[in-house]
Amino acid sequence: MGDNETLIQTKVLFVDDEENILGSLRRLMMDEEFEVLTANSGEEALKVLNNVKDVGLIVSDQRMPGLAGADFLAQARVIAPEALRIMLTGYADINATIDAINKGGAYRYISKPWNDDEFLHTIRDGVQKYRLLQENRRLTEIVNRQNEELKEWNGRLKSRVLEQTALIRKQNEELRTLNENLSTNYNNAILAFSGLLELREQGARNHSRYVQELAVNAAKSMGLSGEEIETIKVAALLHDIGEIGIPEHILRMSVNDMDDEDLKVYRQHPVRGQTAIDVVEGLRAAGILIRHHHENFDGRGFPDRLKGDDIPLGARIIAMADFIDTTINRIGGENAIELTLDRVNGQLGKVLDPQLFSYFNKLTKYFYFEKPRHEMVEEEFDPLDLHVGLMLSRDIRSGTGVLLLSKGITLNTARINSIKRFYNLDPPDHGVYVLVER
Ligand SMILES: [Fe+2]
Ligand SMILES: [Fe+2]
Repeated sequence: MGDNETLIQTKVLFVDDEENILGSLRRLMMDEEFEVLTANSGEEALKVLNNVKDVGLIVSDQRMPGLAGADFLAQARVIAPEALRIMLTGYADINATIDAINKGGAYRYISKPWNDDEFLHTIRDGVQKYRLLQENRRLTEIVNRQNEELKEWNGRLKSRVLEQTALIRKQNEELRTLNENLSTNYNNAILAFSGLLELREQGARNHSRYVQELAVNAAKSMGLSGEEIETIKVAALLHDIGEIGIPEHILRMSVNDMDDEDLKVYRQHPVRGQTAIDVVEGLRAAGILIRHHHENFDGRGFPDRLKGDDIPLGARIIAMADFIDTTINRIGGENAIELTLDRVNGQLGKVLDPQLFSYFNKLTKYFYFEKPRHEMVEEEFDPLDLHVGLMLSRDIRSGTGVLLLSKGITLNTARINSIKRFYNLDPPDHGVYVLVER
């Protein structure tokens, strides 16, 4: 009975200033086993929270007139501290993300327009997590109470005590499992940040993930501990997160072509990256590696001009993986692997740590040989010819300049439909630019 009650009572509150979005959310959630509440503004949503109990999940848009999403979530956190919070946003904005995680305590981030299945999955996941939290709390109470009782009984009824101890041990076990399920906050923050990065990365090459795989494989073959490997895994994935917010034209340039001013801006990215993820406590160790991923072994890198073994090992590993992936992509073609390894060799003791080379040498040959890269070229498509799976090579803006979708996004049916609508309402004077394999 108890279970059923929690099931029915859990409520999900959606906050968006656009009535049609709330409408489609209501329809999407129609068959779900939780109650759906909606509000048109942060202010209205706060009223709802003050009047309604058992809101387990709050999903809020970031851009709203009046209270912005992150500020609303921050206030909601005070009124309903147990509810989980999710941020919805229509564009890749690192400040909004940081605000949402930091101020609003958001544990997840969904970008608009969304894929219905993924969206539903995220919401169900959140409701489930809320229920786990409640269950966790209930069990903690029972265990505490029983511990109290146990103290009283102790010495009086020994057999009873033993029985009770066994029960408590079992419940502690359950509690530990629940707690493990809940330690995902950290993973969610990583997801939010890497989602933001993927929006930014051009084309299909997915630099961050390649650097991550190379670095983690090298770290494993070096026999580093599980914890060190985990830190490298996160840092490698997010190493260039600080590039978000740096002007596009600078990022497109090779370092050799930058003037002093551009270089100065570009060189801020490791520190900016560290600062961005510093809001999440569990990510701080990775932040240190991110800060130092452009130090050179000879002490001539940035930002701190660290030298040799003073550079954290994980940062030296990521630097080599970064160098390899960047160079292989730049050279391209059949001999790219050999030429890249030659260049790595040439930088040993200068940019890169000579002791690491043996771990990357074979790995690189295997890794890139097994993953042949296809040449991608840009093509202009009529919106009517778009199909699922294509990736945007440029932002889509309406004729009057409103941003609909950012480049790097992969098209699904919902996105294609909104592009078509967009091209009807306020058409730009060109087609949709996407990447296709040559
Ligand atoms: Fe970098
Ligand atoms: Fe990089």
